[in-house]
Amino acid sequence: MSYTREIMKNIHYVGYRDWEVRDFHGYKTVKGSTYNAYLIMDEKITLIDTVKMRYGRKLLENISEIVDPAKIDYVVSNHTEPDHSGSMPVVMAAAPKATVIASAKGRDGLENYYRGGWTYQVVKTGDSLDIGARKLEFITTPMLHWPDSMATYLRADKLLFSMDAFGQHYSTSGLYDDEVDECELFTEAKKYYANILMHLGPIAKKTIPAIEALEIEMIAPSHGILWRSKIPEIVARYKEWAECKPSPKVLVVFDTMWESTGRMASAILEGATMNGVEAKLLRLSANELTDVTTEMLDACAVAVGSPTLNNGMMPTVSAFLTYMEGLKPAGKVGAAFGSHGWQGGGAKAVDAALDRIGIAKIGAPITCSFRPDDATLDECRKLGAELARKAAAVK
Ligand code: FEO
Repeated sequence: MSYTREIMKNIHYVGYRDWEVRDFHGYKTVKGSTYNAYLIMDEKITLIDTVKMRYGRKLLENISEIVDPAKIDYVVSNHTEPDHSGSMPVVMAAAPKATVIASAKGRDGLENYYRGGWTYQVVKTGDSLDIGARKLEFITTPMLHWPDSMATYLRADKLLFSMDAFGQHYSTSGLYDDEVDECELFTEAKKYYANILMHLGPIAKKTIPAIEALEIEMIAPSHGILWRSKIPEIVARYKEWAECKPSPKVLVVFDTMWESTGRMASAILEGATMNGVEAKLLRLSANELTDVTTEMLDACAVAVGSPTLNNGMMPTVSAFLTYMEGLKPAGKVGAAFGSHGWQGGGAKAVDAALDRIGIAKIGAPITCSFRPDDATLDECRKLGAELARKAAAVK
């Protein structure tokens, strides 16, 4: 089935909807994803981005509904990650006269991946390219999401091809923000930001004003739906997320072997449950890392617990903290906890990881041997209450 649609006069959506993908380098894509590509029919025919390698033939079929791919003059590669560039070899074989437009790092990345020896035109912020009635303007956006990333703007149509920014892993029959469930859309947009862009907040904060300075009637990202009715809303959300602005929310993130660390976690939650503060108990073996990460984006406080396994953390807790070390959630307070048998190590390892992530600790790890006694559980309740007080203060 083809989802090809004209999104503005002579500008066509030619991307691919991947209803079945459930794992995107570790990100659990429960709603699938899309790889968005766009075809501009002007004096110079221009393709904006491609799709994942395995769907290259489908992309060519979509393009062929509109024009013979051999007539393409330019292929703009806004980002080298293979979910967007994977079909470059197939497209360039079908469009042998096309010039590839990319940033300098984009060109280097494409050649390192595909060694196509294609003809390139390297662009940077401020550069533009006449394609007939329209002019493509380029805005390099390094690290959103890779060093090569850039956005392409059509001033005449007030249309921004924003690449990964403003995207969602979200496959639907709708194409626009007003054709899908609003709550589901913003949930997927937040999940995408948290799991893909959270550590890039400082860069996003610098880039958003440049985007706000443009007149925009449509944002066409490289994943998910296109924004036309809720542009101010999604830009406002991005500003909030880029700030990692905390809400009055406490998370108790843990795993447990024989319920001792589990009892400690429940006591922390009990202490954290107070009026106006949201508190959540997230056992890592019962929740997707992708969802826990989304909760981390706007949490104010987090207690992280692990029992001791082989002198260290449980693998689920270790995976969570390693992911957080990369994503660097900013502005959180927290503490470590955990039980052990004959020898400690789990809570201490969690405590060290919180330091590496940059979480401001509000006390030493709470530990217990074998099973928490009443005094330990009281200590856990007090920790929960202190975390909730910190969270309440951000209201
Ligand atoms: Fe959707 Fe960074 O690629």
